Amino acid sequence: MDCLGKKLHVKKPTMKRYFIHTFGCQMNVYDSLRMGELLAPMGYCPTPTPEEADLILLNTCSIREKAEDKLLSALGRYRLIKLMRGAWIGVGGCVAQQEKEKLLKKAPFVDFIFGTDAVKKLPEILKALEETGKPIIETAWEEAAHYAFLKAEGETSRGKASEFITIMKGCDNLCAYCVVPHTRGREISRPHEEVLAQAQSLLSVGVRELTLLGQNVNSYAGGISFAELLLRVAKLPGLKRLRFTTSHPRDLSAELVEAFRVEPKIAPHIHLPVQSGSDAVLKRMRRNYTASAYMELLAKLRAARPDIAVTTDIIVGFPGEREADFEKTLELTEKARFDGQFSFVFSARPKTLAALKEEEWGKLPHEVKIERLERLQALQKQISAELFQREIGGVAKVLVEGNSKQNPGRLYGKTPQNRTVNFEGEAKVGELVDIDIIRSSSSALFGKRLGSAHAIEETRAQMPLHSVFQPVS
Ligand code: 5AD
Ligand code: SF4
Repeated sequence: MDCLGKKLHVKKPTMKRYFIHTFGCQMNVYDSLRMGELLAPMGYCPTPTPEEADLILLNTCSIREKAEDKLLSALGRYRLIKLMRGAWIGVGGCVAQQEKEKLLKKAPFVDFIFGTDAVKKLPEILKALEETGKPIIETAWEEAAHYAFLKAEGETSRGKASEFITIMKGCDNLCAYCVVPHTRGREISRPHEEVLAQAQSLLSVGVRELTLLGQNVNSYAGGISFAELLLRVAKLPGLKRLRFTTSHPRDLSAELVEAFRVEPKIAPHIHLPVQSGSDAVLKRMRRNYTASAYMELLAKLRAARPDIAVTTDIIVGFPGEREADFEKTLELTEKARFDGQFSFVFSARPKTLAALKEEEWGKLPHEVKIERLERLQALQKQISAELFQREIGGVAKVLVEGNSKQNPGRLYGKTPQNRTVNFEGEAKVGELVDIDIIRSSSSALFGKRLGSAHAIEETRAQMPLHSVFQPVS
């Protein structure tokens, strides 16, 4: 039997162990799970500690320079394990795709490099390595016409409340700062029948929330529109909440706004990266919308779904960003009232337009970038704290995900708006429970399960006066 409980087809299976270090986005988390599924029939089981592994895989991210630095320092640690145990080391993901031979030069002890389209070749690569022992580089793109998405095994997700489904890969947008089109290739959409089958298989093992995943989901072209795909997935039995990420503001259709209005299973949250509040910067970024067009879009989404929470991504210190440009980002942040934002300082990435033009457009000193980032983050923290505080005294419908890591002894889950709630009381993973919200921070809510001892008294005692009559969104 393999680690997924299936009969092994290998003769005399010997139990080997693998460890995967995943960097970066949800797309990589998804790919790492698929790597595990491909390794199981070869007699590999996961181990939580690299020290016990016979195979160490690094699934890498190159979105910013920092992510690449982290990879090199992790590789240094794994090299020692290789020396002690003779473990194999493989590097996959975005850095592998872009750096190829360069990476082998920097870390010659790496046994194989596999690009973003080569995950499914992992068994072949390992067999070849067993036979020859020679380093392997496999970074070819798979032809769009024959591209096959890796199917997820439902069993891998048993016991989870929430799961991801990749609905497309790559990106055709070429935003000036972004390395993704170079590391993930052209956009290819997964046929909608396959997405629906995948969704059904996840729901059949008890998953209750699905997130459809793609670099730019709004340009989905798997036989039906993205909005139609959402409406069809939403109708599947067993599903409680449907989410998706990431959306490009330029491609967000009126049909999608309408889907938010008519389908309550589409959760009231959208991650809509704005990147900057300055039209001049947005133009150089090649984003193809203006700050006011973005704000109009938010107004339409909020009219269609008044309780919708919006989160965003922002880059500060993009080449040529003047103080006045940055102030427009602050203004937009004030006006948009984001639930939260992920903000980053610009990092020049290989082969991107912004890296080529950095000197010409005006490279910003690191201290200026950091100072702007801190101002922006302080403003957003204050807005998030205000929005979260308004929830105190209300009741949140929470989909339970598991034990809270930050708050031992408590469970955690998410509200429809994707806000994290840590709570006291008993509940099962995948259950939808009513939680009395007692306390808040700028990134989470805290509460008690409704009906559990003292919950109601404590809520009243801790409720600030101004929140008593506020509606709960
Ligand atoms: N520098 C800084 N941030 C970046 N992002 C993408 N590329 C860069 C870069 N070169 C940010 C964007 C994107 C998020 C995933 O990462 O805000 O939306
Ligand atoms: Fe990168 Fe732009 Fe594509 Fe997003 S839409 S992955 S930022 S190129």
